[in-house]
Amino acid sequence: MKVLVTGGCGFLGSHVCEFYIKKGAAVIAYDNMTKHELKRTGLATEEARDFNWNFLKGLGVKLVKADIRNYEELLDHASGCDYMIHTAAQPAMTISWEDPRLDITTNIMGTFNVLEAARKLKIPVVSCATIHVYGNKINEELEEEKTRYTRKPQGINETYPILGGSLSPLHGSKAALDIYTKVYIDTYQLEAASFRLTGIYGTRQFGGEDHGWVANFAIRAVLNWPLTVFGTGKQIRDIIYATDICEAFDAFYKSRKPGIYNIGGGLKTAISLLECIDLIGEINGRQPDVQFAPDRYADLRYFICDITKAQKELAWEPKILPREGVSTLIDWIKDNRNILATKEG
Ligand SMILES: NC(=O)c1ccc[n+]([C@@H]2O[C@H](COP(=O)([O-])OP(=O)(O)OC[C@H]3O[C@@H](n4cnc5c(N)ncnc54)[C@H](O)[C@@H]3O)[C@@H](O)[C@H]2O)c1
Repeated sequence: MKVLVTGGCGFLGSHVCEFYIKKGAAVIAYDNMTKHELKRTGLATEEARDFNWNFLKGLGVKLVKADIRNYEELLDHASGCDYMIHTAAQPAMTISWEDPRLDITTNIMGTFNVLEAARKLKIPVVSCATIHVYGNKINEELEEEKTRYTRKPQGINETYPILGGSLSPLHGSKAALDIYTKVYIDTYQLEAASFRLTGIYGTRQFGGEDHGWVANFAIRAVLNWPLTVFGTGKQIRDIIYATDICEAFDAFYKSRKPGIYNIGGGLKTAISLLECIDLIGEINGRQPDVQFAPDRYADLRYFICDITKAQKELAWEPKILPREGVSTLIDWIKDNRNILATKEG
């Protein structure tokens, strides 16, 4: 089996590459190595950028520094592959409103190229959308409790209307890629899926305030840097560990049930920012110094995936609970403190 992973040197992409190489597949990581948000994390940008590249090189992954916006190059590298997993993206809402051109060209045109390549080569493909496609109208349906927002019913499934509330460019570009994946399924019978992913976390995630909040909190806590919570901190997600998503990609490859899926940890991994900070403090042995700042534009205060569709159609089940996943993340941060802490946050 030969797999091409776009964004293979990113956080999630690097886990996908590791997952398939360990299964004995030939793996290509196709990444332009931009990672725009890295320079805003307070971490050592170049070291962080190269970390996943060097890690994958050591595993025997073929590394290609190239852009998904270049269709010919993408097609060339994808030919001969059996499966494409498309994780490359401009993933941050903040950057999307600062640079909407970067957002639209990467997330919409880049995904269009990936879908076209998959159609031409007749191979299955999964795109990464996000739970943000539902929009933040969900905020109007919440109760506020001591440490978290709540909603009844708790889980939200794929039939919930998309794009409610105030939209950012990221909402538009991710919804477009989600819709276009369905367009290719319906029009060309492409074996494709769009995964609407919830908050993801894990090792090799250089999280900052723009993207990757669990890792951002954990890194800052270990380095003893203060961390900032935007809003009340009662925002809630069914966080999911990266390897559980790798299992979902593989479950799609095996089941080949095209469609749109909510992919998250479900009710058992739901945790608010405040609760997660508490957990990090407990595992790290010291509660972090927390500052509060106003809510950010278009923030979604609540999302817990109803994962029934993925459980049934893909025969997939997330396994890792927050305590185990956050402990693994914190161990990795401690082991790599040197490269993470070369700049002051
Ligand atoms: N991390 C999360 O919590 C989360 C939540 C929901 C959805 N997602 C989605 O999952 C996917 C992976 O997210 P991540 O956290 O691993 O992001 P990441 O930023 O760590 O990785 C994305 C990778 O894509 C690469 N890339 C960007 N533009 C490219 C281009 N034009 N051509 C080739 N490569 C390019 C970057 O260099 C980077 O290595 C993204 O689609 C993201 O929107 C992530």
